[in-house]
This record gives sequence, structure tokens and C-alpha cells, in this order.
Amino acid sequence: MADNKAKLTIAETSVDLDVLSPTLGSKVIDIRTLGSKGYYTYDPGFTSTASCESKITFIDGDNGILLHRGFPIGQLATESTYLEVCYILLYGEAPTQEQYDKFKTTVTRHTMIHEQITRLFHGFRRDSHPMAVLCGVTGALAAFYHDALDVSNPVHRDITAYRLLSKMPTVAAMCYKYSIGQPFVYPKNDLSYAGNFLHMMFATPCEEYVVNPVLERAMDRIFILHADHEQNASTSTVRTAGSSGANPFACIAAGIASLWGPAHGGANEACLRMLEEIKTVEHIPEFIKRAKDKNDSFRLMGFGHRVYKNYDPRATVMRETCHEVLKELNLNDSLLEVAMELERIALNDPYFIEKKLYPNVDFYSGIILKALGIPSNMFTVIFAIARTIGWIAHWNEMHEDGLKIARPRQLYTGYDEREFKSEIKKK
Ligand code: ACO
Repeated sequence: MADNKAKLTIAETSVDLDVLSPTLGSKVIDIRTLGSKGYYTYDPGFTSTASCESKITFIDGDNGILLHRGFPIGQLATESTYLEVCYILLYGEAPTQEQYDKFKTTVTRHTMIHEQITRLFHGFRRDSHPMAVLCGVTGALAAFYHDALDVSNPVHRDITAYRLLSKMPTVAAMCYKYSIGQPFVYPKNDLSYAGNFLHMMFATPCEEYVVNPVLERAMDRIFILHADHEQNASTSTVRTAGSSGANPFACIAAGIASLWGPAHGGANEACLRMLEEIKTVEHIPEFIKRAKDKNDSFRLMGFGHRVYKNYDPRATVMRETCHEVLKELNLNDSLLEVAMELERIALNDPYFIEKKLYPNVDFYSGIILKALGIPSNMFTVIFAIARTIGWIAHWNEMHEDGLKIARPRQLYTGYDEREFKSEIKKK
């Protein structure tokens, strides 16, 4: 049989299926005709299912490769800026100087949010988790940018992309300021994307914040390293929400909700908490033992990945950046010592070797963010700022390719049909 054809035989029935060839990566069996033959495939967590066609990001988890529009993440992290990566993700090509300047100016011009949104914040408790506030406020943006928005119009989608990209750092910094009871700080458009975010986080009306270029670069790198990651849980959520033609701000809010979980974007916060709990290198063996114990729900946070069965290429850059930041700030963080020793021990432990569990992007990011003065409950918020561009790029691609509403099937294991007899007295 030709390698572009597959045959599935079930009892007397056989179904011919096409085998699709990607530019890179594993071949994909096209099962779209199976449903009409009375069969569905069963794949909880979609570990073997390609839910869409995409040209944005490629991951080879076995070899630790991550490409955005073909460009390796290591090169992007060291030789580009976050906004350049955003342009690449959105439009597919690296920008010329002229295109970049125009893009940057447009993104910069949309950084303010509608003044009425500031009032929305006051409906939240001050001790709310910032992800809860970010999710709520981002969803509420739909109420401000809905009526005139036609998602089938590429120009409208472009404007939406700019708005989301520009406003997300403003909303995120407001979440922080609100939680500590400080006044909101307006964006300053002569600063870089990362510099402006740090300014909105740390300036006060009575004190100017001078952006340190090393920290600004570290922040920018964190944004780059989290910008996109193929069809992960939050991106798939945005696509699923958007597949009905829903408002993009509401779709991004759905992505934020999915990102929040500790198995996804919440891992960096959980990882720092774990390092703080371990405290000193002497306690590491105890935690390694717990991570390996089937009866203990504890997992080594920042370790393991659904796709990477090798060192996460983003973790390598994150580790270098961590050293740069601590050196610049002249900090001797004992958590870095714990992290490095934990990594060394785990990478030499048969349990982690056999299960191919390597440090992921979140393993070092918490230490950097902590050094920047960012509280741990803001870590996932920062991930959300960075990932917004990935979500928009995928949402946009889905619209370009033509909407098909997401509607998975199921393996039903509930009751057979049965008679209903109510035991409730009716008035
Ligand atoms: N510590 C200890 N054991 C682990 C870990 C870990 N961090 N991760 C996986 N394992 C074990 C599992 O217990 C399982 O063992 P088993 O085969 O004996 O049952 C095996 O490795 C496979 O684990 P799964 O959960 O089936 O792998 P999956 O691909 O579904 O999960 C995940 C990936 C969720 C990331 C997992 O590795 C994990 O929970 N890691 C910790 C949380 C984390 O760092 N998440 C961030 C991911 S990166 C991101 O979202 C940006």
C-alpha cells in the first residue's frame, strides 16, 4: 500500500484513509470519513489527534526543537525582540525595518484602555488572584469592542490583534496595582513593550521607575519564550471558543482560564512555591522520593512536558537569563542553588530518565520573575501577556482557513435508555 494511504479493517468492514504529509514531523491519518461509517476514534487529552492544520509553530519534542514560522526559538530569544516575534507569528515572515517600525508604532498607540474599565476593577476583592481579575477584565473587553467587530473581516481581525497585544500588559499591570492598593500607572509609549510593562508595574505617581536594560531584556526574553507553543491546552481552548465565531476578547478570556491551571501556565508559580518549600539542597532527596511515589500526588513542578521528551529548548535560554539577572542585581538567591541541584539530581535519576522528564520552561522562570520583584501570583499573568500573541495568531489562522465549529464526539459509558418515574411531589 502506498505510504499516503491507510486501511482500517473492523470485522468485515474496511475503510480507506488518506495519510497526510506535513512539512515537518509525524504523518497524520485523515480520519474525517470515519464518522460516516459509524465509528469515532477515542483519544482523551488528544495525545494522538491533530485538531487543525497550522503553519505557525513546529515542535519536535523528542529532539527538543521549537520553531516559530521556521525560526528556532534559541535564535529568536537571543537575536530578536518580543514585538518582532509577534510580527513573525502573526504574519509569517520576519519584518523589514519599515514594517517593524509601523507595527511597533501601532501596538504602542493602543496601550491605553477605555477609562470606564478602571471602574470594573473595583468590583473585585483586593485579595482576588490576579488571574481571576485578568480573566474577568479581558472577557469584559468584549463589551467595549463588540458591536462593530466583524470577525470574518481580516482588517477587523488585525485591529483586534493590535488591541489585545497592546492592552494586555496594561490590564495585567492594573491587576497587580489593584491587588496592592496602589493607583494604576498609565502606559508610557516611549518605552519598549517590556520596559513599559515594568514601568506600569513598578512606577508610582510619586516615584519614577528607571528601567534597567538587563532586566528589560530579561522580561522581553520571558515574553518571547512564552509567545506560542502550538496546540497546547489554552491555544486549543481559544480555537474551540473561536470556532463558533465568538468575540475574540471572550475567546482570549477562555484561553486565560485554561492557562491558569497548575498543569499548564500555573506551573511557574507552583514551581517557585516548591523551591521555597524545599528551601535547601539537603531536602532535595526527600522531595525526589515523594515525586516518585505513586501514592503521593506530589510532582516535581517545572519538570515534564506533554510534548518534550527531551530538554525544553526554552529552559536552556531561561537558565542563562536567570544567571544574567541575578548577576546584574548582585543577588545570591539560594533558590537558584536548589534549582540547579534539583535539576542535576533528577537528570541522573533512573525514574526521570526512563519517563523522559526534563526541566520545562517554567523551571527557571519563577526565579527570574522573583528577582525582578514580581510576586508569584503574577507569574501566570505574565505568561498570559506573552501567550496572547500565540492565541491571536491561531485564532486568526483558524478564521483564514474557514471556520468549522469544534465538536468532539465521545465514548458513551452511561445508562442505557430507561423509564423516568419522578418521586418528587408536585404542588
Ligand atoms: N514529577 C514526577 N513524575 C512525573 C512528572 C513530574 N513532574 N511529570 C510526569 N510524571 C510521571 C507521571 O506520574 C507518569 O508516570 P506513570 O507513567 O508511572 O503513570 C509519567 O511521568 C507520565 O506523566 P503524564 O502525566 O501521563 O504525562 P503528560 O504528558 O500527560 O503530562 C505534564 C505532562 C502535565 C506537564 C506533567 O509532566 C506534569 O504534571 N508536570 C509538572 C507540572 C508542570 O511543570 N507543568 C508545566 C508544563 S509546561 C507549560 O505548560 C508551559
